[in-house]
Amino acid sequence: MLITKAPKGTEDLLPQDSYKWQYLEKNFREVCRNFGYKEIRVPTFEHTELFERGVGDTTDVVQKQMYTFLDKGGRSVTLRPEGTASIARSFLQNGLFSQPMPIKTFYDVACFRYENKQKGRLREFHQLGVETFGSKGPSIDAEVIALALTFLKRVGLDDLTVHINSIGCPECRKKYNELLRAFFRPKFNQLCPTCQSRFERNPLRILDCKSEICQELGKGAPVLLDHICGECRDHFEKFKTMLDSMGITYKIDNGIVRGLDYYTKTVFEIISGPFTICGGGRYDGLIEEFGGDPTPAIGFALGIERLLIRLAENGVEIPKSDILDLYMAPLGENAVDFVPKLVYDLRQNGVSVETDHMARGLKAQMKYADKLGCRFTAVVGDNEIENNIVKIKNMETGEQTEMSFDQITAFLKGAQN
Ligand code: HAM
Repeated sequence: MLITKAPKGTEDLLPQDSYKWQYLEKNFREVCRNFGYKEIRVPTFEHTELFERGVGDTTDVVQKQMYTFLDKGGRSVTLRPEGTASIARSFLQNGLFSQPMPIKTFYDVACFRYENKQKGRLREFHQLGVETFGSKGPSIDAEVIALALTFLKRVGLDDLTVHINSIGCPECRKKYNELLRAFFRPKFNQLCPTCQSRFERNPLRILDCKSEICQELGKGAPVLLDHICGECRDHFEKFKTMLDSMGITYKIDNGIVRGLDYYTKTVFEIISGPFTICGGGRYDGLIEEFGGDPTPAIGFALGIERLLIRLAENGVEIPKSDILDLYMAPLGENAVDFVPKLVYDLRQNGVSVETDHMARGLKAQMKYADKLGCRFTAVVGDNEIENNIVKIKNMETGEQTEMSFDQITAFLKGAQN
């Protein structure tokens, strides 16, 4: 039955698990704030051309993975496969370049790629990321990596390696592409059809092809890092020195080319176990490609689903933040009428309270309260209503404290601290 099965590669986030996402999102926001980044929100879909031009029409993402369709007005639109191109568009469209630089943004978005479902590979997934505009670096290159690491460590993931590389500027790339073509020319007929079509326009993409044959054919190919120009080399050296000074350890990995076309100079990935959790780099040519003034830029994105898998595999327990302060059980007919207003008042005072909506007996209510995981419980019957006195029970210690109804808020708020 199609209506009881979500599309392949999508996942529901269930109420019992949502605290985990909220925890990651809250920590990401806090770390971004510490680093001086402000949130940006962009639409879920964009004109298809934005990604064709931005991400690059020789990439797997654009050639094979986009959710593209014609809207009712006959315009081709695409569900975003990533955030960078949209944010670069927004930077230009909204004239953010006229504000003091650098512009430092962060985001929390759903992305869509038509990929084969595997562990950690979905068709709808979620990215936390940052994009900065205006700084040539290399201090900002080091800063964005430091931000990603601070966040990942803060939420408990220690098993991380930072891989860095430089893929140079368009000038270095032009010369390097010639070397690559010379390397692949004798093997051209063995390349997959997609890579054959990439050979002239963007041979670097061949190194990123998922076909095993192309990967095998790519072994021994010239390494881009060996062929970058003096300026790109100098940038890379300064960037490494900056990481060293921050005590950030890294591996130089000349195999990182990244799957998106906009990258220049610094690229990096943060790896945990089998996954690239976080990927990013500099894209100094993108704003110009979109018609703006040349504007250096750098950012990263990290996958929430992959991060959660690695946290679970590492035995990291995410603290629950959705435990209720109080369960208030009505006992008897008078209480059924009285308690809803009392609960409403408490909720308006900022206390989290649950009560009965199922006409359960007292025993069943207490069992339910236990399942919910409330910190305190209270039973309200005729006696309590008549005398304006209620016993609040601490579920951890069993200790009971008597008070009047109007003292409950202060008591629970005090107990929170
Ligand atoms: P990306 O490497 O394509 O880069 O994706 C970044 C992260 O998103 C990956 O490391 C992974 O954690 C997650 N991810 C990607 N695809 C999937 C998928 N199909 N299922 C689950 N998770 C996935 C970008 O998207 C760039 N926009 C990053 C960037 C920002 N570069 C500069 N600024």
